[in-house]
Amino acid sequence: MKIIVVENYEQLSNEAAKIIINQLQKKPNSVMGLATGATPMGMYEALRKAYANGEVSFKDVTTFNLDEYCGIDPNHPQSYHYYMQQNLFNHIDVKPENVHLPSATSDWNSAAKSYNDLLKQTKIDLQVLGIGSNGHIGFNEPGTSFEQETFVVELAEKTRLDNQRFFNSLEEVPRFAITMGIKNIMQAKQILLLISGKNKAKTAKRLLEGKVGTDFPASVLHLHKSVTIILDEDAYGLAK
Ligand code: F6R
Repeated sequence: MKIIVVENYEQLSNEAAKIIINQLQKKPNSVMGLATGATPMGMYEALRKAYANGEVSFKDVTTFNLDEYCGIDPNHPQSYHYYMQQNLFNHIDVKPENVHLPSATSDWNSAAKSYNDLLKQTKIDLQVLGIGSNGHIGFNEPGTSFEQETFVVELAEKTRLDNQRFFNSLEEVPRFAITMGIKNIMQAKQILLLISGKNKAKTAKRLLEGKVGTDFPASVLHLHKSVTIILDEDAYGLAK
């Protein structure tokens, strides 16, 4: 595991973007695994800038997002489809047919199976992850088996409370999501995990302690051979 500690969120975002740009320069037709949430927003901003400056192209890139809420329309401002369009896809030259997110508008179980089938036909070169305060990656909540493939998950109460900040009320936060499973995530060739902010300091400490167990899903990353973690000082604070 390679640990990079940077001063602040801006540096974390630039460092993450740099790793992605290097990957795309080395392999322009990379398959990228992408995350949503607050943490990678700065990284997407840096990627938009790099694209606008001609430093990187996404024209041969394929993307697979980690997850999507069930039961909200792709045009809903809090859907991850919408998030990806706004934060990245609308601004770059990725081909729409090369972009993949779970489609969770109806028949969630068969949508999860189709997404899993798609993932089985590919190999993700670089998977970007954030981490939930309860240690989830994707929406693999504590207790999820490390053998789990893409599935419909009932979100933990902690996750719904954490994500309430993006909605008008807790009631509006979806109860279910489709997520890549831990097994899918672990099949990526390389993994890049971003951890930012004081509110993730306890989580980062638990992760960096190195104890592996399903009670803390991100701990599975200790079993992967190519993981880079970028933390800002606030997130790293308790792990020193
Ligand atoms: C998002 C995802 C989640 C988030 C995590 C942290 O696609 O899969 O695991 O990365 O919930 O979210 P933020 O960055 O909002 O704290």
